[in-house]
Parts: sequence; C-alpha cells; structure tokens
Amino acid sequence: MTTSTPMGFGRMHRKEDARFIRGRGQYVDDVQLPGMLHGAILRSPHAHARILSVDTSAAEALPGVKAVITGETLAGLGLAWMPTLSKDVQAVLATDKVRFQGQEVAFVVAEDRYIARDALELIEVDYEPLPSVIDARTALAEAAPVIRDDLDGKKDNHIFDWEAGDRAHTEAIFERAEVRVSQDMLYPRVHPAPLETCGALADFDKVTGKLTVWCPTQAPHAHRTLYAMVAGLPEHKIRVISPDIGGGFGGKVGIYPGYVCAIVGSIVTGKPVKWMEDRSENLMSTAFARDYHMTGEIAATQDGRVQAIRVKVLADHGAFNGTAQPTKFPAGFFHVFSGSYDIETAHCEVTGVYSNKAPGGVAYACSFRITEAVYLVERLMDVLAYELGMDPAELRMKNLLRADQFPYTSPTGWEYDSGDYPRTLALAMEMAGYDKLRAEQAERRANGDRRLMGIGLSFFTEAVGAGPRKHMDILGLGMADGAELRVHPTGKAVLRVSCQSQGQGHETTFAQIVAEELGISPDDVDVVHGDTDQTPFGLGTYGSRSTPVSGAAAAMVTRKVRDRAKLVASAMLEVAPDDLEWTKGRWSVKGDPKHGATIQEIALASHGAVELPEGVEGHLDATCVYNPPNLTYPFGAYICVVDVDPDTGQVDVRRFIAVDDCGVRINPMIVEGQIHGGLADGIGMALMQLMAFDEDGNHLGASFMDYLLPTAVECPSWELGETVTPSPHHPIGAKGVGESATVGSPAAVVNAVLDALKPYGIRHADMPLTPSNVWRAIQGRPIRT
Ligand code: CDP
Repeated sequence: MTTSTPMGFGRMHRKEDARFIRGRGQYVDDVQLPGMLHGAILRSPHAHARILSVDTSAAEALPGVKAVITGETLAGLGLAWMPTLSKDVQAVLATDKVRFQGQEVAFVVAEDRYIARDALELIEVDYEPLPSVIDARTALAEAAPVIRDDLDGKKDNHIFDWEAGDRAHTEAIFERAEVRVSQDMLYPRVHPAPLETCGALADFDKVTGKLTVWCPTQAPHAHRTLYAMVAGLPEHKIRVISPDIGGGFGGKVGIYPGYVCAIVGSIVTGKPVKWMEDRSENLMSTAFARDYHMTGEIAATQDGRVQAIRVKVLADHGAFNGTAQPTKFPAGFFHVFSGSYDIETAHCEVTGVYSNKAPGGVAYACSFRITEAVYLVERLMDVLAYELGMDPAELRMKNLLRADQFPYTSPTGWEYDSGDYPRTLALAMEMAGYDKLRAEQAERRANGDRRLMGIGLSFFTEAVGAGPRKHMDILGLGMADGAELRVHPTGKAVLRVSCQSQGQGHETTFAQIVAEELGISPDDVDVVHGDTDQTPFGLGTYGSRSTPVSGAAAAMVTRKVRDRAKLVASAMLEVAPDDLEWTKGRWSVKGDPKHGATIQEIALASHGAVELPEGVEGHLDATCVYNPPNLTYPFGAYICVVDVDPDTGQVDVRRFIAVDDCGVRINPMIVEGQIHGGLADGIGMALMQLMAFDEDGNHLGASFMDYLLPTAVECPSWELGETVTPSPHHPIGAKGVGESATVGSPAAVVNAVLDALKPYGIRHADMPLTPSNVWRAIQGRPIRT
C-alpha cells in the first residue's frame, strides 16, 4: 500500500489519525471552560405514567447544586416542548405524563457531575402508572391507551398513512401471477450505539448575548437555525461547534432534550453548563432505528421472472414522532424497495404509530430507511427462490437491471443514475468461488455433516446524497450545501464545508478533492468544518450525503478558483484566457507548455504582483452552493458464508465477500474502512442486536452487556472487490459509500443462516439470529433429505 501523498485521488493515510492515535482528539467532553457547571437528567422509571407532582426542594438544598429545572420551569419559558424533525412535538422535560422509560423529567445543574447525579436521587416525583403500548401491532387496538393525549383531539396512536407506487397496476399483476409468495418480517428496533455518547456544553454570554453550544451534532447549521426558530434567539448570536465526533450513524442528527436543558441551564445560571449522558442513557433515550413490521409479497412467473412487489409496513415511531428524513417522505426512502431488479410495478403502504418507547427512527447508517427496504426485497428474493427451488444467485441474475437500462426510473419514481449490476454480481460470485461453495454445501449435506453450511447473497442499491432542493428539505431547509475555498498567497489552501465528519476522514478526502482539482498536495489543504461561525451553511452529514453533496460543492468551488486562476494567468502571461490550457497544477499556453504559471505562482500574483484585467478580482477564492440534480446510486453484491452449529444455534461467519460500486473512489483506503465498519454493523444487526422491552416497557438492553456490539471476534477477514460506474451528474463521478455496507450486509447474513437451515424446512426467521433464536427455530423439525 502506498502511503505517500498523491496529488489527488488515491490511497492516503488519514490526516486526522495524527491526532486520533495520539489521544489528541477534541470531543465535547474534552472541552473545559472556566467556571463550568455540570448537568444531569432525572429520567422516568416508567414507560407510561401520569406525573402527579415533582418536589425538587431537597435537591435544591444540596450544597453545590445551582439550579433544578423541571418541565414546569420550562413551560414558563415556553420551552417545555420542542418541535421534532417530523413536525411533531417532543417534551423537553415532561410536564403532564412520561411516555417512555428513560424520558427526561428534570435537570440538575451543579458544581460537578457527581453532585448533579446525587441531587437526582433527592428529587421526588409522584407517578401514577398507566398501561403502556410496547408492541406496535397493538397500538391501534380500540382498548390501547392513548399515548399522545397532549395533542388536540387525539383519540388513538395513529401518526400517518403513506403510500407510494401504483396500487391498481400492482393488484392486477398479482391477480394473474403464476406465483405469489408472501412473508411477514420484522426489522427489529436497533440502536446506532456510537462510542461517544451524546452531550452538550452550552455557554451563554450575557454581555454579548451570544450563545455557543459545543455538541456532537451531524448537522451544526440546521441545529443553529432550529435553536433560533424555537428559542427566539437571533441566529447570528448562536454558534454551534461540533468538534471531533466519536461516531454518529444518524443518531446525532436531531436535537435531544439534554441539549436544550444545557442551554437553559447556562442562561439561568450565567455559567457554561456541560451535560454528557452515560451509556445507558444513550441506549435508552436517544434515537433508535428500524422497528418496521413488514409484510412483503412478490408476484413472479414460474421460471422466476419477478413482476411485482407490494408491501405493508407498520412503523413503530415511539412516543414522539422524531424520525429524521426529508419532510415529504414520512417513511424516508423506504419506497426504493423494488431494489436492484427490473420489476414492472410496485406498491407500498406504511402506517406510523406511537408506542411507549423512545422516539427517533433515524437512518442508522443508511439513507432514510433504505436498509429496511433492501432487507425486505432481498429476503423476498430468497423466499421466492426457496419456493421455486431456484438458486438465489440465478434468480437475482435473471432479474437484475441491465447496464443499458440506466438511467432507470423505478416503479416508485426514483431515477437510478448509473450501474452495471450483473457485472458486479458476477465478480462477487467469482471471488467467492460460488459454484465450488455450492458443491461443498451439497457434499456436506449428503454426508450428513452436523455443521450446517449456508451461503447468502444480497444485492443492494442505495440512494444517497439528499437531495435535490425541489424534492427535499428538512423543516423547510433545502438540502443544498455550501463550500468556500481560499488559496493563500503561497498556494496553500483552506476549504470550508458545511458537512461534519464523525470519523469518516473528511479532512483527508475533501483535501484530496481540492488537490485533484487544483493540482496541489492534499497536505497543502486544510479542511475546516463543524463550526457554524467558520463555515458556509449546509445540511450536514448523514445518509452518506457528504461526498455526493458537499464533495460536489468542494469540486465546484475549486473549479471556480481554477477559472479565476486562469484569468490571473492570462494577465501574467499576456495571452488571452482562451489560449491557455490546464494541466494539473498549472495554466500554460496552448502549444507552448513551457510558457505557463503554476497555481502557486498564480496565487502570489493574484495578491498583487500583477496588473489584473478590468473586472477580474484579486485573490484566489470562491464560494459556491451545490444543489444536487439527483441522488447518487451506489450499489453492491454481497456473499456471506456461514457455519451453524445446530446443537447450540451458534452462527460463525466464515467468509464475507463484498463488491461495492461507489463510482470514482477518492481515497480507496478510506472507502474500504467505511465498508469494513458497515459490514461489521450488518453482522451485529443480523446476529446480535435488539432493543428489547418487557411488556411493561422496561428496557432490557440498556448496557453493552445486553446490547451487543460486533467485534473482531465475530467478523471474518473481509474480502473486498470493486467495480467503478461513475455517477454521470456528480462533478467527480463519485457516489456516497459510507453506509452501503450497513444497508447491504444484514440481508446477506440472514440469507446465509436461512440457507443453512433450509434442510429443516425453515423459510424465514426474524433478526437477530442469536444462538437461542436459531436453536429455537430448529427445535422439533426433522431434517428433510
Ligand atoms: O456522508 P458520509 O461522509 O458519512 O459518507 P460518504 O460521503 O459516503 O463518505 C464517507 C467517506 O468515504 C468520506 O471520507 C468520503 O470522502 C470517502 N469516499 C471516497 O473516498 N470515495 C467515494 N466514492 C465515496 C466516499
């Protein structure tokens, strides 16, 4: 592997690593301000209960306590409720009822975090417990308690009904189809579980009226605007700083009550207030993902040509509808569920309901519910293969979109920009030695081998880079991103972007984009992000949108600077601009390459050493706002090989082959790292993870003892391959990749386990396929030969 610094795209060690591997990262909890106080949150022990009274007197009397804030205090300021990203409201601190276990009830500000925690014990809350809704399938029953009686006239737990696709056409195809299969499946509630929990440090300066909030947000600019809108603070008097972030995965997009409490705490005490949640608080109260009960149906011909898909989803959104996605899409991008296949028609209906569980519903490492969509279609393809007695790879190959069908408009209206799917699947099969694997499996089955071998495939298409402004906004903020580039007199550059890295290496790859476009070293480019006072507006980093949107902005702004450099060069070289040509890092006279100027020479000249033509401003800098014309559509073919021990139900992932196509790769090493992480995530979801609750709504997985994260022990040595189909509309042909592997891998793992269990006549089992779930599925079933 080369570690030398290229002049643009290529493998390059991450610039950030210099500080991360020395323990010199600067996370919110590392920020210390003089006179800083500490906050702690009192949380509800009940999933659903009326609050009869809150007595804070003993807590207030504890030495070292500076303030105790309750829902009532906030109600006095008009801040007891805050808007969610889905146009619902969420309690900042509960006033009337608590609606999930772990909900925020009171906030203590004290001299240190230990006193703040001790004071929580002294707050007396009188609760009247109420029956709760834990299983979404009971939420709409007549007898179900109404969770959101705070909403005017609300008499049930229904949030929304939403549909996409062509119902009539789909029904007609189903009616006359030769083969119809149907499968219920649950994508269980899981949690992004970033290593760094959430927190905020708020500092309100009474003299200047300026509020500074340090917080690990994936969308600093959106946070600033929302604080301004909700709290009525002038936007220019708010500065949101998002320093180093220890993983976001969608869970750090929204605003949590603790952030608002820290801000109010600082305003009330006149001191900086820091609040950091612990692991249990993070798992119990911050945004979950998935929780989709899905019924999928597929219509096909007897020889395996898929004609139509329809789906019904019951979406559990928890106690407040706080899901994060573009406003027009209440079920996110779930309607990309026709996947990578050439299907005539499709239809889906999604019903959202409230339950007594934490709110959120974030796109955990995926573009707004595409993980659920990919899992659904990829499971359905295997169920169809099972019923038809077909090889799942053959079935997929038969139905994949062909290269000549791009750009392709899906039955639910998405325009896939580019792809060559059969080539990618063929490569994955070749890398896996697919035929040999099937032969080995057949032989082992024939020999009655106790260990069950399974081979699972998935083929996914992601839709990333939200999004074209005319289709996509969040709370009215269009999803375009700004970028600003300044080249200093000596040719070193500073790029300012609105997106915010949470570990994806933007300081490296964005410098590489500038380097590629300007012909300077990435080491000569500093990338500034994560500070609203320092960067142009944009909607942040989630749904793998950084490269498709901010990355495009970075390329476009660099091209603007290059164009300015051309005008300066024409003055320097005394030739018309049209007589100049660009070779990396240099404008020179066409046909006379020796007669030219490097970007460094031009930068110096632009600051004054040359008389510039009329109308040409000095200095090499530019700004731009990039409004993407479409999303980008990365895709990939994954093959997983497992061995299952039928006596214990233990699944060992023996091999995992992943061929990804994310268009042009800026830094292949970073791309591979992103894929490694996403594949591990997929193993976690498929085999280990579940946010479980008992019937009273008690959270059963609020620590890493119960909520399991995959480690190197569970992961094989990944076998990666690539194909490159550039995005035709992205300036550098790149598509996003950050979440591809999380989106595509769970289905491959589950399909592999179910392939292993096929001799038992098991067609489907829900995630997580823990040893006990696998063992239970097998019990009482003789092996069919
Ligand atoms: O939005 P997020 O950063 O999470 O996802 P992304 O845009 O897919 O990028 C993840 C990382 O991979 C970034 O450092 C990208 O610049 C890099 N990347 C790349 O090098 N080449 C691509 N084609 C896509 C992403």
